[in-house]
Amino acid sequence: MKYNDIPGWFNPIDQAGFAWALDFQNDTGTKGDLLELGTFLGKSAILMGQKLKPGERLTVCDLFEEVMTWEGTNPVEKAFFGNKTPTRQAFETNYLAFHDQLPQIVQGPTGEICGHVAAGSCRFVHIDASHVYDNVREDTASARQVLQENGVVVFDDYRKPQCPGTAAAVWEAILNDGLQPVFATDAKLYATWGDPEPLRRAIIARARASDWCRTGDPVAIRDMAVVRLARNGK
Ligand SMILES: C[S@@+](CC[C@H](N)C(=O)[O-])C[C@H]1O[C@@H](n2cnc3c(N)ncnc32)[C@H](O)[C@@H]1O
Repeated sequence: MKYNDIPGWFNPIDQAGFAWALDFQNDTGTKGDLLELGTFLGKSAILMGQKLKPGERLTVCDLFEEVMTWEGTNPVEKAFFGNKTPTRQAFETNYLAFHDQLPQIVQGPTGEICGHVAAGSCRFVHIDASHVYDNVREDTASARQVLQENGVVVFDDYRKPQCPGTAAAVWEAILNDGLQPVFATDAKLYATWGDPEPLRRAIIARARASDWCRTGDPVAIRDMAVVRLARNGK
């Protein structure tokens, strides 16, 4: 199986964003678990699993096939899946094509994740499950609870017209709840409740050293800043 054959929405620019953020943590001695809320067929989880160090754990949470019947699923979101309904079996097959062992799998709504992942245990959380305001708000609160100081949270679809609830929950956390943006791609926003500067500097350096992407100038938001990570020419 080839990685690029796995269906999903995890673009090369965010594959770089994840890899560089996790490499930065690994290079600076940060230890902790990884958590993904919304894993679909495993494209982003597989990359996260590649960055685990000995003793660390990846947990993924997804309704898998139950997403089509769960009462909280937004009909608009169901339409995104098209004929690609996620199944737990397909996820496990994909994951095991790239890793010897499965991650911890929590099959159920993401609102239950704090019953499975200890407070302060994680260094990296990817929020990519429901894109409805109440659910993203709840997932953001869960991320804050499970993340350690300077842990990184990544939000999918923070600016897509079809997902205004995600945008509302993300900016609410930034403007009212101490979340600091670090860098952003067209699809994902990377943020922390800790110090955003060291990771931002590392991402700018990795982009400068690459021959295929770049960062823009920092854009101020109140007393904060964010830089855009994009492919050259975009
Ligand atoms: C956009 S996909 C995730 C994509 C994946 N991260 C990737 O990069 O390929 C969203 C996933 O979230 C799951 N999902 C949606 N709402 C959920 C909820 N409330 N609780 C748990 N999983 C949910 C869906 O089953 C689907 O697999």
